[in-house]
Amino acid sequence: MTPMQADGLLQDTLHRPLRDLRISVTDRCNFRCSYCMPKEVFDKNHPYLPHADLLDFEEITRLARLFIGHGVHKLRLTGGEPLLRKNIERLIAQLAALRTPHGQPLDITLTTNGSLLARKARQLREAGLRRVTVSLDGLDDTVFRSMNDVDFPVAEVLAGIEAARAVGLGPIKVNMVVKRGTNEHEILPMARHFRGTGIVLRFIEYMDVGVTNGWRMDEVLPSRDVIRMIRQELPLVPLEATNPGETAQRWGYAGTDGQYDPRLGEVGVISSVTQAFCHDCNRARLSTEGKLYLCLFASQGHDLRALLRGGASDAELTSAIGHIWSRRDDRYSELRSTAGATTRPRVEMSYIGG
Ligand code: GTP
Ligand code: 5AD
Ligand code: SF4
Ligand code: SF4
Repeated sequence: MTPMQADGLLQDTLHRPLRDLRISVTDRCNFRCSYCMPKEVFDKNHPYLPHADLLDFEEITRLARLFIGHGVHKLRLTGGEPLLRKNIERLIAQLAALRTPHGQPLDITLTTNGSLLARKARQLREAGLRRVTVSLDGLDDTVFRSMNDVDFPVAEVLAGIEAARAVGLGPIKVNMVVKRGTNEHEILPMARHFRGTGIVLRFIEYMDVGVTNGWRMDEVLPSRDVIRMIRQELPLVPLEATNPGETAQRWGYAGTDGQYDPRLGEVGVISSVTQAFCHDCNRARLSTEGKLYLCLFASQGHDLRALLRGGASDAELTSAIGHIWSRRDDRYSELRSTAGATTRPRVEMSYIGG
């Protein structure tokens, strides 16, 4: 028997439920952000996964259905860049047909660099995608082109965000990774730009995911400095969390009366380095080739594809997932500063997704 909560759902060794399944659909990306896929490593000789190794849409949908049986109610498609996966809208349509045990539709979202969004927003929406999160590290074209390292213009990402808004793929979130010395001067322009638009901007501390990005603590700008910087110009008040286990701390823009003004909206900070949020982490990650990772910083995944392709029944797969989750004790961000934590191998973000 696997440990259960009072509601009959799974919990891990730290009593954390399983709520969020993040599915990576490709290990490829058309950007080369230095904090994720540095050009020197991800060059033309990099061994991407061969097509036969990828889970196909039926396999992904079957696994998603079984995870939903264990309490998952949010599905996030990631990559690499998920919009590079051929016919992704077909997968979305299959996932959109799934229901929770209570008959509710899932919260289905996708994390994208926005480069193909202007072209694809409408078909994604029509397939059943609910919302998108777009990565954008600055508004200044020179800064942005240099951070994506493929000279991609910021105007096209902004056009993608606008297309997503126009077809109702919201609430839209924009994620900005902040690297000290690279784009901290973009924090205020980004805050000004998205304030009052209904789009939620979130600042992410640069993390030591993977082993290729040459991460250094002195390039992390702590979230408290980000908030301090914004507050000097735009008043902010702290907001309550919306969902248990949420990654971001929320701050609302205040009006002239000093109170939160919903018309001005909110920003968030994701502080994995300076304020770990492992204690209620309810996220599982399925890699492109069907390995289940229990932490963004895990060294290894659990091979569900082998079970799928070995003819396992739904009951066998469900039981395997339950056992894996019930033994989970991962909490890397909380342990980062302890001996040995950072020297173990870590999976790459481009492989496992955000
Ligand atoms: P929403 O439901 O839209 O709020 O999703 P989310 O809060 O899960 O946010 P999102 O998927 O956009 O994650 C934002 C960023 O937070 C990711 O790109 C990662 O950089 C980071 N992140 C997400 N999940 C984790 C996690 O479990 N651990 C750590 N350390 N970082 C995470
Ligand atoms: N630190 C923080 N965030 C990262 N992302 C990718 N690599 C890192 C890192 N080293 C973010 C991207 C995107 C999402 C997929 O993950 O900006 O928003
Ligand atoms: Fe691509 Fe996103 Fe990684 Fe940048 S952060 S290289 S856009 S997957
Ligand atoms: Fe979850 Fe691992 Fe991130 Fe902690 S470091 S919040 S356990 S994914």
